[in-house]
Amino acid sequence: MTRPLSLGDQRDAALRHAADIVAHAWREFDQAREEVAPSPELLARLRERLPEQPGDVIEDLDLASDVLDASLAQSRPRYFAYIGSSGLEVGALADLLAHSYDINLALDAGAATQLERQAIEWLAQFLGFPAATGSFTSGGTISNITALAAARERALPGSRSTGMANRRAALYCSAEAHYSVTRAAELLGIGRDNVRDIAIDARRRMDPSDLAARIDADLAAGITPIAVVATGGTTLTGAVDPLDAIADVCQERGVWLHVDGAYGLPAAAAPTSAPRFRGLDRVDSLSVDAHKWMFVPKACSAVLVRRTADLAAVFSHDEDYIPHEDDELNAVDVTLEYSRPLRALKLWLAMRVHGAQAFRAAVEANLAQAQLLYGLASAHPDFQTREHEPQLSIVPIRHVVAGCPDIDRHNEELCRAMQRDGRVYISPAVIDGRTWLRPCFTNFRTTTDDVHTTLAVAAELGSTICSAH
Ligand SMILES: Cc1ncc(COP(=O)(O)O)c(C=O)c1O
Repeated sequence: MTRPLSLGDQRDAALRHAADIVAHAWREFDQAREEVAPSPELLARLRERLPEQPGDVIEDLDLASDVLDASLAQSRPRYFAYIGSSGLEVGALADLLAHSYDINLALDAGAATQLERQAIEWLAQFLGFPAATGSFTSGGTISNITALAAARERALPGSRSTGMANRRAALYCSAEAHYSVTRAAELLGIGRDNVRDIAIDARRRMDPSDLAARIDADLAAGITPIAVVATGGTTLTGAVDPLDAIADVCQERGVWLHVDGAYGLPAAAAPTSAPRFRGLDRVDSLSVDAHKWMFVPKACSAVLVRRTADLAAVFSHDEDYIPHEDDELNAVDVTLEYSRPLRALKLWLAMRVHGAQAFRAAVEANLAQAQLLYGLASAHPDFQTREHEPQLSIVPIRHVVAGCPDIDRHNEELCRAMQRDGRVYISPAVIDGRTWLRPCFTNFRTTTDDVHTTLAVAAELGSTICSAH
């Protein structure tokens, strides 16, 4: 009897065909190319009804490949929008392996559980943080919520049972922290209104003296500080909060310090930017997205904590369907998620294959590209740059030409025009009420030529649009 979901004698051919498609895609990603919009025929295929009968696996793989090819692939070397990643090749292979075995890390999965532990240790070594434990999660949002859940239980023991029970509590982060911090406050019962936006300095970093004053005011008013969230690379401009000075404030007051390094923390391992992260070894927990600046495919974030007991205090539990055989904690006793794929494999394999030094070099290359764009744009008569050079790899630039009546609208239009044009893909950002183009370099495939092209395309389209106003 044949199994209903078997690929039958097409199985090996399907794998070989998929490998050919991947090899073709990888060759294509080596150089930039214009984005391809989906054809009307392709869009029509995406409106077809649920198939009841089997298709042809080779034809259907080709259709899947066509859809991917007409999608916005962050692996392409001139994708500079938001915070991209790069679909590191060995990481993609690791995903195929992990998904084929369909490992579940909810409980002990044997050797894979040890591999996840090793990958967490390697990540901690790479970043320079003395982690006792940690786990891979689906993203910075979940990593931040995980760490802040532990911080809440530490600040208000028993709150996982009683809820907040009318106790007033607050979270502290810079005015430019990522929204996932606010979301954590919403979900953990702290409340969005109790997220204190701490003032930022001229380089957009958290001001430690304002932080100290706000915590002290809350303590005097009977409000419990849950945690300070410092950002190691803000999403808007890549600002790195002064961790050492913030750690002093937290230590004096016994407040948990979490670093949201979802985007920027890999730069702590790069010699050029490492000094910006001084104090990282003092924090209680951190989040880092390997699927951003460590180049592996999504999803691969990690949350690292200094004390295992803090995670166990908020997540451990007994249920009849997951009996504890001894005192060992199950993964679900220290993680937010239950079923978890082996996300660690892609980082583990990539570290083995390339070595940590190659990762540092790739981050350094992106830092240099950011400095290059900053220098080129600063020297260009039609571009405005920020007063201070980029701290990491985000470089806001603005096209400013005489005769343009509304520079903000002009830059919004320029961004849309660049996206339509397809040679370079960037997103806009609003900084202090002004619209900027905001390229972000986090791709190991990007070259210095791509940086020159970015400015050239922005200048060319910018002047075309302006003359049309
Ligand atoms: C600083 C920061 N924190 C958290 C996040 C959320 O990460 P994710 O999209 O992986 O949930 C981002 C995303 O860009 C970020 O830049």
